[in-house]
Amino acid sequence: APCPLKLVPSTLNMLLRGVYPHPLPVAAGRGWRSTTSLLDAAAVGDLVLLDPLTEESLLQTLQERFRRSNIYTYIGNVVISVNPYRSLPIYTPETVQEYRNCNFFAVKPHIYAIADDAYRSLRDRDRDQCILITGESGAGKTEASKLVMSYVAAVCSKGEEVDKVKEQLLQSNPVLEAFGNAKTIRNDNSSRFGKYMDVEFDFKGEPLGGVISNYLLEKSRIVRHVKGERNFHIFYQLLAGGSAQLLRRSRLPRTGAACVCPQDAMKVIGFSPAEVTALLEVTAVVLKLGNVQLSSSYQASGMEASSIAEPQGRDKGWGQTWAPCLSPQGYYGRDALAKNIYSRLFDWLVNRINTSIQVKPGKQRKVMGVLDIYGFEIFQDNGFEQFIINYCNEKLQQIFILMTLKEEQEEYVREGIQWTPVEFFDNSIICNLIENSKCGILAMLDEECLRPGVVNEDTFLTKLNQLFATHKHYESKETQNARRVMDATLPSQCFRIHHYAGKVTYNVTGFIEKNNDLLFRDLSQAMWASRHELLRSLFPEGDPQKVSLKLPPTAGFQFKASVATLMKNLYSKNPNYIRCIKPNETKTGMLFTPELVLAQIRYLGLMENVRVRRAGYAFRQLYDSFLQRYKMLSPRTWPHWTGSHREGTKVLLEDLAFPPEELAFGHTKIFIRSPRTLFDLERRRQERVAELATLIQKTFRGWRCRTQYQLMRKSQIIISAWFRGHMVRRGVPATLLLPIPHASSRAPPTLLTPPAHPTSLHRSKRTGTTALNRPLPRQCKKYREQLTPQRRALLQTKLHASELFKDKKALYSKRCRGWGDGGGWEGPRGGTG
Ligand SMILES: Nc1ncnc2c1ncn2[C@@H]1O[C@H](COP(=O)(O)OP(=O)(O)OP(=O)(O)O)[C@@H](O)[C@H]1O
Ligand SMILES: [Mg+2]
Repeated sequence: APCPLKLVPSTLNMLLRGVYPHPLPVAAGRGWRSTTSLLDAAAVGDLVLLDPLTEESLLQTLQERFRRSNIYTYIGNVVISVNPYRSLPIYTPETVQEYRNCNFFAVKPHIYAIADDAYRSLRDRDRDQCILITGESGAGKTEASKLVMSYVAAVCSKGEEVDKVKEQLLQSNPVLEAFGNAKTIRNDNSSRFGKYMDVEFDFKGEPLGGVISNYLLEKSRIVRHVKGERNFHIFYQLLAGGSAQLLRRSRLPRTGAACVCPQDAMKVIGFSPAEVTALLEVTAVVLKLGNVQLSSSYQASGMEASSIAEPQGRDKGWGQTWAPCLSPQGYYGRDALAKNIYSRLFDWLVNRINTSIQVKPGKQRKVMGVLDIYGFEIFQDNGFEQFIINYCNEKLQQIFILMTLKEEQEEYVREGIQWTPVEFFDNSIICNLIENSKCGILAMLDEECLRPGVVNEDTFLTKLNQLFATHKHYESKETQNARRVMDATLPSQCFRIHHYAGKVTYNVTGFIEKNNDLLFRDLSQAMWASRHELLRSLFPEGDPQKVSLKLPPTAGFQFKASVATLMKNLYSKNPNYIRCIKPNETKTGMLFTPELVLAQIRYLGLMENVRVRRAGYAFRQLYDSFLQRYKMLSPRTWPHWTGSHREGTKVLLEDLAFPPEELAFGHTKIFIRSPRTLFDLERRRQERVAELATLIQKTFRGWRCRTQYQLMRKSQIIISAWFRGHMVRRGVPATLLLPIPHASSRAPPTLLTPPAHPTSLHRSKRTGTTALNRPLPRQCKKYREQLTPQRRALLQTKLHASELFKDKKALYSKRCRGWGDGGGWEGPRGGTG
């Protein structure tokens, strides 16, 4: 395809001086290849470099990159991922190695790069991280979260214990997916629950365990789903892959193509065989409840009732049970029971996994949270579940807006940095419409649910229409009529919300029932009375001794509270964004539908993201932490800087000679414009730290050798002193026991040449003599000088005689033995004299 973009001079200017002001690396290999990919004008790897920046150019860049199978693109440190719907060879172990300890902007955009950046920031900078993966249903969030987890598992260290923890964390995915995912029109493996997983690491960056939080399972799927969709995967897996014994005992037929039931994964996590069986048995109970048919009958009193119709074929054994209600109510009770059992079972499953992977209390830990929640969705008929799911996505969009657009811009103003505001859409108004505790839609729903008297969805809708008659993001037939708008697409029992990602029409039917989420007390008591331990434990309120008349909190209230906790948790961590885009509606491999992607570009706010990013600074840090981290880079700030932190930072950066436009000094923080400058700074720090480490090692080694030498010298002096004393006491002349000169040279001993060990004083095994008894040249000379002339003459005569008789006299050698130790002198004297 012809390239839609040209590398115009302004682009070049920006590339070379503006956004990336440092010279481009020219070294061969990874850095060069990847950098060219980042700066490829037709398909820039970082949209911050796009020129001109228009919706069209942004879309074309994504399309061109997608065509080249480059599914990842950056906006600064936000990763955009376009679902290829085809397996690509970009997740190999070699790729993992390539991205390990990589420089985020020096390698090709990849999800591994953001995972690596987050992991290293956690390990080296001690900052808790969260990975926020957003996008509509089928955009690739779950796949992305698995890729992040597997990357982190691959790069952190290995060991028996660590590997076990990693396996447990990874295997929690297939188990939760089996119970919480289902095929929908949009996605064959759609997450029907929200999952937030905190992976906990120790100070070395080794995983210790984790905690999983789950958010509202779409339990209505248990009893009803749209044509073309399926129920949760586990039911099919159970029928096709459950053990023959289990199926026989549960009276279930084997159906479907052989597929794997996640029993093995459960075993890896730490489930006992009994727990696995119990879990699958309760799943079978839910399955069988669907087969329960009711028929109308009468009680003995003559009142109308419904009873369980005699089951067909092999499925016998229900007995004659009746309930004092009409069959529609009976079916309602049956469905409520099935939904309750399954959702409680799911909660039990998450808790059980948490028990296995939890970290022992008391250990200090760092946390990386990965959020994979159901994506924004619009169906033909949207109910309470879609309302909850889309509310959650609205909150996630809000967190993104707050952290990347609003807060960032407010911070520049707060810090006194020159700033031209960038316009963006703030979705707080929609969040407020839904969650306002006094007059939000959820609060109105709760009010209606708790109101005495007849409650139904009509009164709820009327209330909404009155409250939000003039709200910009709310519509209904009534408000449209008031505004004289003709719209056949909005039925009377519906309301429509203009979400950040599009308009969704919600049908209020079922809102009250689903929000109340009540189960007949008789049913919970019947479940509690069950002999099945697990089933019984799921219904503690069925215990007659614990009967409470208090109404449980509504589903909407609980969800709102858990979303608030989640948001608080996410705000406390350093966010990393992966924004997933769905390129087509038909799940077709490598098919890019521009209109669909453009809609997502718009509602995800990517244009605003690029604008703020381009005008803003990539990095900021408080002066004291910055100075603490980089002070070793200037002799003026190392080792101590006594002035203010701000002044210290200025002095430090002055010495490093960065271009002034790269830096901005706020009131409390230093701002660095481009990531390259930061990486340059980080590289210099690493080199300097290595130098300093060498210096510390050198000094330590010197100190260690010196102290060891001094200790040895002291010991040697003590030993020699004791030895000489001992020898003198035995009668050896003190003159023979003078200290021995150094073995190798007359030079004083040095650090590197420690003195010969005093053991040389001991008897030599080979010669049979001792070093002390061997005549030494200086002592011999001294001895000779002391001789009187007579004695000297006598000794010379003896020497002559000795030479004369050597080898000629039988006794000679025997008499001369000991010559070396002085005895020989006596021999000639005795023998000849
Ligand atoms: N990186 C990828 N490479 C290849 N295929 C992918 C990739 N990401 C997603 N897919 C394909 O897209 C499908 C849908 O992805 P996924 O289940 O992650 O969507 P989702 O965003 O989690 O949707 P939902 O909100 O419904 O749970 C996957 O089953 C897979 O076939
Ligand atoms: Mg998913």
